[in-house]
Amino acid sequence: PRATPLAGRHALVTAGPTHEPIDPVRYLANRSSGRQGYEIAGALAALGARVTLVSGPVDLPAPPGVALRRVETASQMLAACRDALPADIAVCAAAVADWRVAQEATRKIKKAQGAPPPVLALVPNPDILAELSTPGPDRPALVVGFAAETDSVAQHAAAKRARKGCDWIVANDVRPETGIMGGMENEVILITADGAEQWPRMDKRAVATHLAGRIAAFFTAQRSI
Ligand code: C5P
Repeated sequence: PRATPLAGRHALVTAGPTHEPIDPVRYLANRSSGRQGYEIAGALAALGARVTLVSGPVDLPAPPGVALRRVETASQMLAACRDALPADIAVCAAAVADWRVAQEATRKIKKAQGAPPPVLALVPNPDILAELSTPGPDRPALVVGFAAETDSVAQHAAAKRARKGCDWIVANDVRPETGIMGGMENEVILITADGAEQWPRMDKRAVATHLAGRIAAFFTAQRSI
């Protein structure tokens, strides 16, 4: 029989980049592939969870058994996450744009001969992970964030965990020489209240399977208290 330790649990997963419009034809974006978040959504579904995957623009199919909600901007991602609540688990794997253009132009910005290039004023986007981590009746029992760091990975990730108010942080070393950013493999440190745990390098699917297993163990332990 299939093991379904997360049966009856609802998991919310964010994945992919966000696109922040400049005008009807242009946007600000980043290089996130969405791969790690999609794998996590699939791994949680495989353990019996009902999964809502809120995804920015990527070209990946919805994993089996996952309800996919496609969004474009950070504001839309936050709204879709709020809509999906309540959830028992939130995993924020999305690479949310830190800023959006203050005033999206409703018409295409034209290049006028001899005119100076436009200056884009930016405003900060909402922090979805911090918002989902805020104590209250809607807070998921387990909130997991990600941290991409290039140095002092464990220390910076532990500080991020405290700052965001989430329960766990999955930290990875994205220095170019690691080949992790945009690649198929990942090498992560799991930061919890109990400290830091270095996992061996493995492919992103295996990271997802391990993380889903840890999440299932968290709920199994909770049930037995
Ligand atoms: O602050 P930083 O971007 O380094 O934090 C990364 C973590 O926060 C990731 O889990 C990411 O999904 C989440 N995040 C978010 N909303 C933002 C920025 C980051 O949910 N606006």
